[in-house]
Amino acid sequence: MENQEKAVPKASRRKFLSQALTAAGSVVVAPTLIESATAIGAEALPPPVPVAPSVAGEISVTLHINGAKKTLSIEPRVTLLDTLRERLELTGSKKGCDHGQCGACTVLIDGQRAYSCLCLAVMQEGKEIVTIEGLAKGEVLHPVQEAFIHQDGFQCGYCTPGQICASVALLDEIKRGCASAITPDLSSPPQLSNLSEAEIKERLSGNLCRCSAYNGIVAAVQQAAGHTPPSAAALVLGTATKEGA
Ligand code: FES
Ligand code: FES
Repeated sequence: MENQEKAVPKASRRKFLSQALTAAGSVVVAPTLIESATAIGAEALPPPVPVAPSVAGEISVTLHINGAKKTLSIEPRVTLLDTLRERLELTGSKKGCDHGQCGACTVLIDGQRAYSCLCLAVMQEGKEIVTIEGLAKGEVLHPVQEAFIHQDGFQCGYCTPGQICASVALLDEIKRGCASAITPDLSSPPQLSNLSEAEIKERLSGNLCRCSAYNGIVAAVQQAAGHTPPSAAALVLGTATKEGA
């Protein structure tokens, strides 16, 4: 019984030392083996072939943007918004939702407003695209841009390029006699002279502003339409005429 108890630790110590040395030897030998294998493999394999950039599926498209022609190679699935921002460095159009729900990406296509996040760039060939960068004439701002500044039509400014493009289109729609969902008499759509606050709000309802600068935005459109908008103080004090509300 006593011999059996002593035999076990001796055998275990010998086994442990043997295993430990084997493991240590493996650690020392392993890098050598790996290096040898790598060296052999390097000799056996052909030199790496340079990988060409993935252009499969790209097609050439020429876009007319802000009066200039831009020819580029893009995949058919790329949106106009991503093309403007990522390929043409026209970052004025903003990506808010990327799902057609906020209006931050609004641009003008053939004079009509469009959510550029919902438009495929390849489908815009031959159309005239105007972004916020194309509204000013040199140093002279577009009247709607001027009005947004005068009426404090923005706070953080993220939605503002889309709001301005939509407002430019809105005023053009009024000039063309377009009715809205709330126009009471379709045979008599509003004119610039009688464009109501309610019509402006309805027609800009597809452009959201997280800063809630809506009073200033509506006032800016009123100014651009030739009206005298109520003062900010009157709006705050609630003494402004609630025209069309
Ligand atoms: S980013 Fe296009 S509608 Fe929101
Ligand atoms: S000004 Fe900030 S989101 Fe409209």
